[in-house]
Amino acid sequence: MVRARNSKRPGSKVTHRRRGNWCGEIERVLITEELIARRVRQLTRQLERDFSGRDLVIVSLLNGTVIFLADLIRHLPMPLRLDFMGVSSYGQGVEPGELVFTKQLRIDVRGRDVLVVDDILDTGRTLKRVLGVLRQHKPRRIKICVLLEKKARRTEKVRADYVGFQIPDLFVVGYGLDYAECYRNLPFVGVLRPEAYEPEKTGSRRK
Ligand code: IMP
Ligand code: MG
Repeated sequence: MVRARNSKRPGSKVTHRRRGNWCGEIERVLITEELIARRVRQLTRQLERDFSGRDLVIVSLLNGTVIFLADLIRHLPMPLRLDFMGVSSYGQGVEPGELVFTKQLRIDVRGRDVLVVDDILDTGRTLKRVLGVLRQHKPRRIKICVLLEKKARRTEKVRADYVGFQIPDLFVVGYGLDYAECYRNLPFVGVLRPEAYEPEKTGSRRK
């Protein structure tokens, strides 16, 4: 598969040359804080229209959604329940590998509307597995909301109903998204500088 220049996958080690200044390790900002805020408010309004009066359970996938989720639901003026599922993908080298559930659903979603929130729809493997598990619990319907979508990398037949931004095939960090568990706290979505990476040493990764 053709990859953009920066699209190394987690599994390799990240070095913080300028400790305390992660922003210096960002090659460029892809989506600014302001743009994210505006888009998230639009999504919130759309969700309000589509789910008002429904028995809604939001199922957020850990860990990459924490910031997006908090911004998304704080302005959602309707009753809802919130639960989390944990999914890790352990990869050998540059590709993500086996998916492992690290936290299961606790709320009963039978007969309820479920909105799955994820940080990014990449190959679609994660959401396909999550949908498989959720369907066993017989919800009334399942919709998917993602902050980012990389259409170019899709290998599974998964469609998001709400998408914040379409992005090219670049490995991005910030606003919840990580590289080797770092950079989640950046307020924007950015592309890492090549110097921020060390040569691949294989290993594992977590979402
Ligand atoms: P998928 O299973 O290939 O769709 O991948 C989904 C998961 O991979 C996301 O929830 C992220 O944790 C991770 N991921 C995919 N692309 C990126 C990226 O560009 N930056 C950070 N994490 C990513
Ligand atoms: Mg991740």
